[in-house]
Amino acid sequence: MDFSRPGFLMLPILLTSLAFLCVLVNAQTTVVVNGTASHSIPSTLWGQMFEDISHSGDGGLYAELLQNRAFQMVDVSDQATALSAWHSVNEAQLTVIEETIPVSSALPNALSVTIPNGSSSQVGVGNEGYFGIKVDSSETYNASLFYRFPTASSFNGIATVALQTSTGQILGATNVTLSGSQTSWLQVVATIQPTITANALTNNFTVTVDGAALAGQTINFAMFSLFPPTFKNRPNGMRVDIAETLSAMVPSFFRLPGGNNLEGQTVATRWQWNNTVGPLVDRPGRVGDWGYVNTDGVGLFEYLSWCEDLNMQAIMAVWSGFALGGTSIAEDDLGPYIQQAIDQINFAVGDPSESDAAALRASLGHPDPFPVAHIEIGNEDFFAPDTYTYRWNQFSTALQSAFPSLSFLATSDTFNPVLTPNPAEWDIHVYQTPSWFAENSFIYDGFERNGTHYFEGEYAAISTNPNDLFGTPADGRLTFPTMQSSTGEAAFMTGLERNSDIVFAASYAPLLNLWVQHVVNSQWTPNLVSFDSGNVYPSTSYYVQQLFSLNRGDEYLPSTLPDVSGTTFWSVVRNTSVTPNKIIIKVVNTIGIASNITFQLPFAVENTATVQLLTGAETDSNTPTAPNTVAPQSNTITVGDTFTYNAPGFSVSALTLTGST
Ligand SMILES: *[C@@H]1O[C@H](CO)[C@@H](O)[C@H](O)[C@H]1NC(C)=O
Ligand SMILES: *[C@@H]1O[C@H](CO)[C@@H](O)[C@H](O)[C@H]1NC(C)=O
Ligand SMILES: *[C@@H]1O[C@H](CO)[C@@H](O)[C@H](O)[C@H]1NC(C)=O
Ligand SMILES: *[C@@H]1O[C@H](CO)[C@@H](O)[C@H](O)[C@H]1NC(C)=O
Ligand SMILES: *[C@@H]1O[C@H](CO)[C@@H](O)[C@H](O)[C@H]1NC(C)=O
Ligand SMILES: *[C@@H]1O[C@H](CO)[C@@H](O)[C@H](O)[C@H]1NC(C)=O
Ligand SMILES: *[C@@H]1O[C@H](CO)[C@@H](O)[C@H](O)[C@H]1NC(C)=O
Ligand SMILES: *[C@@H]1O[C@H](CO)[C@@H](O)[C@H](O)[C@H]1NC(C)=O
Ligand SMILES: *[C@@H]1O[C@H](CO)[C@@H](O)[C@H](O)[C@H]1NC(C)=O
Repeated sequence: MDFSRPGFLMLPILLTSLAFLCVLVNAQTTVVVNGTASHSIPSTLWGQMFEDISHSGDGGLYAELLQNRAFQMVDVSDQATALSAWHSVNEAQLTVIEETIPVSSALPNALSVTIPNGSSSQVGVGNEGYFGIKVDSSETYNASLFYRFPTASSFNGIATVALQTSTGQILGATNVTLSGSQTSWLQVVATIQPTITANALTNNFTVTVDGAALAGQTINFAMFSLFPPTFKNRPNGMRVDIAETLSAMVPSFFRLPGGNNLEGQTVATRWQWNNTVGPLVDRPGRVGDWGYVNTDGVGLFEYLSWCEDLNMQAIMAVWSGFALGGTSIAEDDLGPYIQQAIDQINFAVGDPSESDAAALRASLGHPDPFPVAHIEIGNEDFFAPDTYTYRWNQFSTALQSAFPSLSFLATSDTFNPVLTPNPAEWDIHVYQTPSWFAENSFIYDGFERNGTHYFEGEYAAISTNPNDLFGTPADGRLTFPTMQSSTGEAAFMTGLERNSDIVFAASYAPLLNLWVQHVVNSQWTPNLVSFDSGNVYPSTSYYVQQLFSLNRGDEYLPSTLPDVSGTTFWSVVRNTSVTPNKIIIKVVNTIGIASNITFQLPFAVENTATVQLLTGAETDSNTPTAPNTVAPQSNTITVGDTFTYNAPGFSVSALTLTGST
């Protein structure tokens, strides 16, 4: 039997003979492992793809609790939308206005609050958060707002900043002073220490004043904010439970900031790094690509800091001259956009003494470059292949020359159209059926070995119906990953690991979605991790990603190839950085019938091996209503240089063996 990876042309012949062999050994699959590594495994192999979709960023990973906190990008002629998430308390008149004296040039809008004549109670505004606010008495909340009186008054008193239940029970409150003589903007900060932990998530943030003292007067507010404690206590940071879930996957890279959300529907609404850095009041926000306004509170600095916090490399995209609505920048007009991309890369990694953008990074407290080695030129440019030829040519030539040590990824279909200069790296995306993934776990075995490397930048089994992949759940589209979809992905991942001499990184997509009342806030399903304002729900696919990521090796050991039309898949790696070495075998079973697989090792191993196992029924899913349906288990098994492993139906296993050297 041939252990070597099949070459480009050898593949069909080899697969035919393997299929024949597997028919012979149907009941008892034997896998012979070669002790000589075929290649080293890149440390970047398993990571995460991120963009703001389904409130993964605003309302998700970003810990800000208030929705529509600064009235960014809202149209004041549509008050219902402009006031999204805001409510009147005791008849206050609320209007989002275009301020005559805006709080900043980036934030033209403000909230005008008029207290009715004859008022005698606490009057003001409430914000419902991102479909609820979790209130916990063990946490301290940082609140802030800007205010001014458009007409000066003699008022000098307090506003109460509070967290309260939907029925008005105060969970925590603090008083701040307001002055009627304050006709220019002033920021007020306060902390709220709740005395009660709410048992529901339907809580509101409120700012109220004494209606009797202020009857008939108007106060303008801008740029509110409310933060719970954040991951690693970073100001303007990440939500702890979501961050910890992502961190527990031990990802080695983070793709940012998109995805389609990089592109904008129009050129004007594209993601622009320089609109996302510096004080929050200087960030205009943007109309995102997934149906809601992005605050850009998680800006480029926050993204890169997050990468550093999780010890991840950033795979950072630059806008490449194409907006999703269909506009490509003309060949002769690309200059300013290329310059903006150069500035963006300098902000991430440039020398502060040579670049203003890098000096800006240093002024924000980070003189050292961030960990960025790969730059993606655009996203899914197979949507505009005709213009990508000149866009790729101009962007990659200019950027490679400005940053000789960085690598650049092309995003159109691989080798089609032919791009000049020839891309050294490609980002490949695939959304398919579970069986497609299993069958195509060999796809990279057939790729030519010629120095070109690949990033499987987005993949997920999204439907069981090959004829209607992007349809509705009735057509087979999945709402949540299932054991069937997750094992299909796992089979594919064994192929990525086998081909990690040319595949340097891979990430499931999308990463996160806000789940509220039957996924009304999801722009896309399924997702790796779902959450609501108080909980996080890792899917079966999350546990597959985690199992691969936690069980890496630094070199790949060739073994008998799986049957190309089979239902069991495996990959064998070795961790040589520990003595004795660890040998890690991943085994995937994509059907409901258990399978025995005999492994023959060419070296001695200790008798006890640990197994991390994920298994469940075909349609089992972890959902917000049944979050713990499937969870990883650990146990030990007895092994030897020849041993048989019984892979349960619909399972993914990582067997860790201890070598003798
Ligand atoms: C193991 O792999 C090495 C390197 O590819 C190859 O030279 C050797 O023949 C293989 N051993 C067996 C038993 O096939
Ligand atoms: C609290 O939020 C709910 C929605 O969750 C909303 O209906 C209600 O009006 C809000 N109340 C206040 C005072 O903001
Ligand atoms: C806020 O001030 C009001 C009026 O003086 C007072 O009744 C209330 O107890 C104060 N609340 C807090 C949290 O200090
Ligand atoms: C309050 O009453 C005054 C005097 O009648 C009137 O000018 C003003 O418009 C009223 N304001 C509100 C908010 O109703
Ligand atoms: C909240 O405020 C405290 C005190 O100013 C500060 O140490 C902490 O970093 C802040 N937290 C966030 C998330 O901004
Ligand atoms: C960001 O840069 C673009 C051009 O590179 C410029 O048009 C825009 O005004 C800048 N935005 C800010 C907030 O400076
Ligand atoms: C590598 O192989 C691919 C596929 O055959 C081809 O399109 C590409 O041009 C090759 N790259 C180099 C650098 O030869
Ligand atoms: C090898 O194992 C050590 C000890 O568990 C771990 O720190 C290291 O990350 C592993 N190497 C790889 C490539 O996973
Ligand atoms: C796997 O092996 C076990 C014990 O060695 C045996 O009981 C079982 O029937 C075998 N299963 C299959 C599917 O061959």
